[in-house]
Amino acid sequence: MAEVPPGVKGMNDILPPEVSKWQFLEQKARDVLEAFAYRELRTPVLEYTPLFVRSVGEVTDVVEKQMYTFDDRDGRSVSLRPEGTASAVRAYIGEARWNKEPVTRWYYIGPMFRHERAQRGRLRQFHQIGAELFGAAEPSADAEMIAMLAAMFTGFGLPAAAVEVTVNSLGEPEERAAYRDALVTYYGGHLERLDDDSRRRLETNPLRILDSKNPDVIAVNAEAPVLLESLGAASRARFDRVRELLTGLGVPHRVDPRLVRGLDYYTSTIFEIKCNAGDLGAQNTVAGGGRYDRLVSSLGGPAVPAIGFALGLERTLLAIPDPAESYEPAISVFFAPLDPEAVAFVLPIAHRLRTGGVRVEVEHRPASLKAMMKRADKLRARAAIIVGGNEIASGKLTVKDLAQGTQSEVPVAELDAKVRQLLD
Ligand code: HAM
Repeated sequence: MAEVPPGVKGMNDILPPEVSKWQFLEQKARDVLEAFAYRELRTPVLEYTPLFVRSVGEVTDVVEKQMYTFDDRDGRSVSLRPEGTASAVRAYIGEARWNKEPVTRWYYIGPMFRHERAQRGRLRQFHQIGAELFGAAEPSADAEMIAMLAAMFTGFGLPAAAVEVTVNSLGEPEERAAYRDALVTYYGGHLERLDDDSRRRLETNPLRILDSKNPDVIAVNAEAPVLLESLGAASRARFDRVRELLTGLGVPHRVDPRLVRGLDYYTSTIFEIKCNAGDLGAQNTVAGGGRYDRLVSSLGGPAVPAIGFALGLERTLLAIPDPAESYEPAISVFFAPLDPEAVAFVLPIAHRLRTGGVRVEVEHRPASLKAMMKRADKLRARAAIIVGGNEIASGKLTVKDLAQGTQSEVPVAELDAKVRQLLD
C-alpha cells in the first residue's frame, strides 16, 4: 500500500465528534458577542509581512521566530497571520470606518499560525475567537470588554472558580519609555545572568525580557522594577477606575503587576484569563488582550483608541471536561429499507422529512434488519422506520419508537405528523 502523506506538524484535523464541541463553543461565543453588539469580520489568512512587523513588533517572539513567512509568486513577502488584531486594524483603516460609525465592534473566529514548539495546548495552526472595539477610550469600555470575555467562559459552562482574570496597566508609551530606562539600568547590573536573547533585547526591546521563559532570566525578572508602580497619577487613576467598574459588574479579578503581553502594540489596560480546569496542563492561558490606543495611528489611520482580546479555542476546549460525544446531535429518524426496491421507495419520503428540517439517515447498503437496528441505536435515533415489500404494498410503514420500545403502522401520508409528534 502507498504511504499516507503526513499532515503538517502542529496542525490538526478537526473531525466529528470533536467538531461538535467546537461548534458548541463557537455558537456560545457568537451569542455573547452578538448580545454585546459585535458583528463578525472575516479577513484573509495571508497578509503582506510588514503589517505584522509594524503592529505586533519587530522584536517579539511572534515576528522574530514564529511567523510563516515566504515570498509569493510575485516576489512579495507574505505571512500567514499569527493573530487577528493587525488584520482588523488594516481593514478598519482601509474602510475609513470611523467616518461611518463612531464606535466599531468587530469579532472574528478563525485559524492563526505560529511556528512554535508543538505541545499540548500549543499548536502551529490554532484557532482564536477575537473581538476588537474601536473608538472608545473610556475605562468603561475596558470593563465591558473584560466582562464580555468572562461571560463567554461562563457560557461555556466553566465554573467561575476555575477561571482567573488578571489585569495590569502598561500606562502610556511615555511612561513606558521611563520604565525602559529603569529596566536597562537594572539588567545592566545582572548581565551575566541573562541569556543571549535577553542581552540582545536589552538593546532593542528590554520589556520583552520580562516575557522570557528561561528559568535563569525569570529569576532575574523577579526582582526587576515593576511598571505598575512607576506609572503616573492619571494612568493609575484610570486603572483603578477600570477595576472599580469590573467589581461593579461582578467580575472577580486579580492585579498582576508583572503581567506583560507578548505583542508590542499594547498600552494602558492589559489582561489575561487562566483556566484551572480539565486537561490544560502548563498552557493554561486561555485568553489575552488589552488596549492598543496607538496602533491605528501608527499604521496610517487617525488617532482612534481601541481595545480587544482573543481566546484560544483549542485551549478552551481542553478546559471543558465533557466528552465531545455529549455535544453530538442525535439522528431523529433512521430508515431501514429491507431491499433495493424499498430504498427507492423511502428516498422521497426521507427527502421530504429532511427538507422539513428533520435529521434523517437512510441505510443504502443491503443489511440485515438486526444490523440496521443496531445502527439506529448507535446513532441514538428517536425512531426507526422499517420498509419492505409488505409496507410498500399496504402503503403503511412500520415506525419503531426507540425511546418507548413501541411499534406502530403509519400510512405514508401521516408520517410527517407522526415524526413531529415523536420529536416534540
Ligand atoms: P495572544 O495572547 O498572542 O493575543 O493570543 C491569544 C490566545 O491565543 C492565547 O491566550 C492562547 O489561548 C491562544 N494561543 C496563542 N498562541 C497559541 C498556540 N501556539 N497554540 C494554541 N493557542 C495559542 C493575541 O493574539 C492578540 N491578537 C489578542 C488581542 C486582540 N489583543 C487585542 N486584541
